[in-house]
Amino acid sequence: MNARLGMLALAVAAGLPLASCRGKSQPQSAPADAATNRPGEPVARIANPAPDPMRNPPVAAITNAPATAPFHREWTMDDLLPPVRELAKGRDFQQGKWVFEKSLCGACHAFAAFSPGTGLAPDLSSVGNQYPREFLLQSIVEPSAVINGQYYFTNFHLKDGEVVSGKLIEMVDGKYRVAPSVAAPDTIVELKEEEVAALEPSPVSPMPTGMLNTFTQDQILDLIAFLMSGGNPQAGFFSK
Ligand code: HEC
Repeated sequence: MNARLGMLALAVAAGLPLASCRGKSQPQSAPADAATNRPGEPVARIANPAPDPMRNPPVAAITNAPATAPFHREWTMDDLLPPVRELAKGRDFQQGKWVFEKSLCGACHAFAAFSPGTGLAPDLSSVGNQYPREFLLQSIVEPSAVINGQYYFTNFHLKDGEVVSGKLIEMVDGKYRVAPSVAAPDTIVELKEEEVAALEPSPVSPMPTGMLNTFTQDQILDLIAFLMSGGNPQAGFFSK
């Protein structure tokens, strides 16, 4: 077993989402403006109007844990946008924090004092000031609709036909060092430059879809208020 396969086996053992990190897929053309987005550069966005939900692993695949909460509803933007637009006060801070913890947002994201994150997903501490509500909600409900140009995955098409997908961390000594899971930044796959036939930014967000589907509308609104408040229980959203 070569080193890369060894690491992949390790990834399997760690319960990482292999559906998202390998498998033979058709080479796809890169989003038009994606080539200009490189790690370390200011955030640019990759518009991706046609996300393919089949290629986005469900949450259970990420955590590899049995779903702890029952399925509630396949939430869409149409369901949630009107109440999110109206959200003003009367939300429950503790419940918002509970949803954040229960849905494992912090397995990837930093958020104020509540999560240090892994460094491979955006820090959510100031999303309340950074983004309009519509965009914030869409980032959660349809992660692949618009992908953050700093935190996208790259698909590496190997000469043997295999495809490895993950976050390109760095290139050292002619080897790409790739993290196939945002939740496990220390699990690194090394790919020699000469075994890679082609690479392109993945049109699929590393963030799983369906993260809200085990929660009620009330719980989701509390999560959104929790995020928009920057984790501040004194924020107006939580006043009566
Ligand atoms: C497996 C890791 C992972 C988990 C779990 C996860 N995310 Fe993400 N999320 C990402 C990555 C990577 C991005 C950046 C790529 C993109 O734009 O889709 C992202 C993007 C976002 C964005 C857009 C932020 C920006 O600055 O571009 C928001 C908002 C967000 N996530 C919220 C959440 C919330 C809320 C949860 C929990 C319900 C969650 N995420 C769970 C990995 C994750």
